[in-house]
This record gives sequence, C-alpha cells and structure tokens, in this order.
Amino acid sequence: MPKTIAVILAAGLGTRMKSKIPKVLHQLAGVPLVSHVLDALKEAAVDDIIIVLGYQGEMVEKTLGKDYRYVYQQEQLGTGHALLQALPLLQEYAGGHCLVLCGDTPLLTGETLKNLKERHLQTGAKATVLTAKLDNPSGYGRIIKGSGGIKRIVEERDATVEEKLIKEINTGAYCFDLASVKEGLARLTPANAQGEYYLTDIIKFLVDQKERVETYLLENAWEALGVNNRIQLAEAEAYLRRRLLEKQMLAGVTIIDPANTYIGKQVQIGQDTIVYPGVIMEGSTKIGQNCRIGPYTRLVDTIVGDDCTINNSILLESKVGQGCNIGPYSYLRPGTELADQVKVGDFAELKKSYVGKGSKIPHLSYIGDSVIGEGVNIGAGTITCNYDGKKKHQTIIKDRAFVGSNTNLVAPITVGEDAYIGAGSTVTKDIPSGALAIARGRQRNLENWQRRKEEQEASKKREE
Ligand code: UD1
Ligand code: CA
Repeated sequence: MPKTIAVILAAGLGTRMKSKIPKVLHQLAGVPLVSHVLDALKEAAVDDIIIVLGYQGEMVEKTLGKDYRYVYQQEQLGTGHALLQALPLLQEYAGGHCLVLCGDTPLLTGETLKNLKERHLQTGAKATVLTAKLDNPSGYGRIIKGSGGIKRIVEERDATVEEKLIKEINTGAYCFDLASVKEGLARLTPANAQGEYYLTDIIKFLVDQKERVETYLLENAWEALGVNNRIQLAEAEAYLRRRLLEKQMLAGVTIIDPANTYIGKQVQIGQDTIVYPGVIMEGSTKIGQNCRIGPYTRLVDTIVGDDCTINNSILLESKVGQGCNIGPYSYLRPGTELADQVKVGDFAELKKSYVGKGSKIPHLSYIGDSVIGEGVNIGAGTITCNYDGKKKHQTIIKDRAFVGSNTNLVAPITVGEDAYIGAGSTVTKDIPSGALAIARGRQRNLENWQRRKEEQEASKKREE
C-alpha cells in the first residue's frame, strides 16, 4: 500500500504579523496555528508528518515535540524551495503520495484533508489542488482554468487585472504524486514578482507535461482562510470560536450567549452544564455535568466535578470536586484542590492548598500553602501568614476546626481537630485537638466613661 506523507511548510518569517515570534506559533483558540493543522492531519490518517522549519525553528520544534520529523530551510526562498528541503526525507517513501499544507491555514478540517487525499487517489491525478471560491479573493493565488481544467496558479502580485477578478483561489493545500513533485521541484525558477521559488509553479509544469492535475473545491470557503496578519488571525479566531461553541452545544452544553463566551479547543464540558455570558475557558480545562459556570468567570487548566456552581471567579490550574460552590469573586491560584461540597465565597484567595470535604471559606480570606480537613469553617477575614519574607510555610487545619473571624494563622502551624479559635486572634503556636485558642487583647470596659467625660469638659469650661 503506497504511503501518504504530509509536509507542513512552516519556515516563513511571517513578516506581515509584525512579530518577534514565528507566525505558526501565534495562538488561535489557545493553541498555536500549526497545531490546528497537525490536529486535522491526525484525522486524515497520514503515515508520517514532516515539518519544514526556518525562522526560529528551534522554538517551533520545542513547542511541537518529538512526534514529527523536522527539516530546516536555512533561507526563506519560497514555498517551492521549502518543499525541496523535505525531498531527501520524502525519497524514503518512494511510490507514495504527499499532502502539502501551509502552517498558516488553521481552519482546514481533518475531513477536508481526508477527502482531498481520497479524491487524489480516486482520480489518479499527479497533483490535486484544494481550492475555494471567495467573494474577496485578494491576497491569494488564483486558479487559472482552461477547457481541460486547471492550467496554472498565479499569485496576486503576478496577476493581471483580469486574473485578479477570478474568485477561485489556491488554499495552499495539495496532494501530489511523489515522483511528479520531485520532477516539478527540479524545474522551479524564481522568475516572478517576489523572486521566490513558488511551489504553485509545479502545477503549470505538470499541465505542460500533459499530466493529469485536478482541483478539489472546498464546500465551506471559510476553511481556506490563511493567516498572514493579525486581522486575519482575529477573523480565524471569531470563526473557530463559533465552530467550537457549536460543537459544545450539539454535545449537550447550554451556552446562553455564544457571542460572549470563549471556549478553548481542548476544553471538555459535561452534559447539561450551563455556561453564562462572559466565560473564558482555556487550556486543558474539563468541566463535569450539571454545572453552572459564570457569568464572568475564567478557568485555565482547571478540572471541575459535576454539579458545581462557579460565579464571577478566576480559577487557574486548580481542581474542584463535586457539588462545590465558588464565588462570586473567588480567586483559586495554581495548586488549589477542593474536595466535594466545598464552599469558597467572595474575596477568598487560595493558593497551593487542599480543602477537605464540606469545608467552607465563605468570605475575605487568604489561604496559602495549607491543608484543610473536612467540615472546617474558616471565618471571614482569616489569613494564613505563610511567608516570612524568605520562605513559605505550611498551615494545617484539621477536621471540624472552627476558625473565628479575622484570625491570623502564623505558619508553620497546626490547628487540631475540633479546635476553636476566638475571633480576632493572631495564632502563633499549634492548637491541640478540641482546645479553644484566644490570642487577642482582653476587652476592658470603663464604666460610665461617656458621662464622666462630659462632666470633665463642663468643669473645664467653667474654669475658663
Ligand atoms: C501561498 C500560496 C498562494 C495561496 C496561499 C494560501 C505560493 C507561492 N503561494 O501564498 O497561492 O493562495 O498560500 O494561503 O505558494 N513558507 C516556507 N518557506 C518559505 C516561504 C513560505 O516555509 O520560504 C511557508 C510559510 O511559513 C507559510 C506557507 O509556507 O506557512 C505559505 O507562505 P506564505 O508566505 O504565507 O504564502 P502566501 O503568500 O500566503
Ligand atoms: Ca499565507
């Protein structure tokens, strides 16, 4: 069975992005542009993937990891020159086919790439070009057709006024017969407006050789969008956002206001969860079933169990059990883990802390580097003083302890089971199980103070 190899061209500078980072690493729905292409390829079942890198290639290689084969294009002399760099590796798959894709067309779906490959194999063409019809084709290469089909591709900058009127464009995705691509690459010259080796010139070469070349027209022209500048990046974001939201909705998630909801590509949400307006879910966030998320909540790399309510809060790299109630205005920083039925309320900040089942931190608290047991009540205004200016220290609060309002817990410290801390205490020593700790100034009442004060003032006046 002849193999199908994919080559992704990703060496370009991305000049039009006006950026220091390589274009293909710019994020779309929270994932680098080129990763969208790789995701689509996974569905198209190719045998191997070669990525052509150049500008800051090491950075791209480090981001994408070891699952792919990399080749380097030292000088960016055009898309044809880029593919030429992959040729030595492609020789290993002689007799096969190659899918050539650009690293900056992130909206192409796996389905489309699979269809492109299948169409190519069915027709027995030497090359098949994926095309799209655009109302505004400016910036793209135009497909020049004659009676027998495609004749050549002309770049915008080399096109005549009439050619520019053509609405069918080159998406930059192709399927080639390997032997033909090798021959074609050998013939490329940089005789064009940009002085580059255009991959697209292979098409004219094959047509001139009387080889069969086909086009495959995209049904959904949006998929053709190439990201060359940040305006196109935002267009791709808007389109992809809608696509991702629709996928969630069709899978059983209610999204009240899709225009104001942002859900990343890898985010998973359980059935019957309701997402209120102003919610942003990023990274590998995973939400259970029957949750109510938002309004105005940001979740990054956070796992949330079933039946939780999270409202007006920010959760980063945290884990939330089932049936928890969070917010409004809670801030869970990385390393926070809540067991089931935990309540975290307004203006509570948690960091690198574990909170046991059924415990409550309802208001105005800072809990850092702590381990809190089950059924604990943390009163309003409780602060774990975890930092001594040099080091962080741990606070341990055991099951069913009751921490009175406005308590400072100077870490390292352990509060025993069923211990009770009087409000307003600054606790510096461990508290044994079942004990009551009070660490605050004693209250003194001065009887009749107000009346005596008035009498004093009156006698002072008389003396004057
Ligand atoms: C290219 C096509 C154009 C098509 C469009 C689709 C050519 C000559 N033109 O134009 O017909 O309509 O894509 O989006 O192929 N690259 C390299 N090395 C280089 C140059 C580019 O690896 O020397 C890579 C880039 O990183 C990018 C891809 O090839 O991922 C396309 O390059 P780009 O400069 O964006 O080409 P377009 O002008 O968009
Ligand atoms: Ca491009």
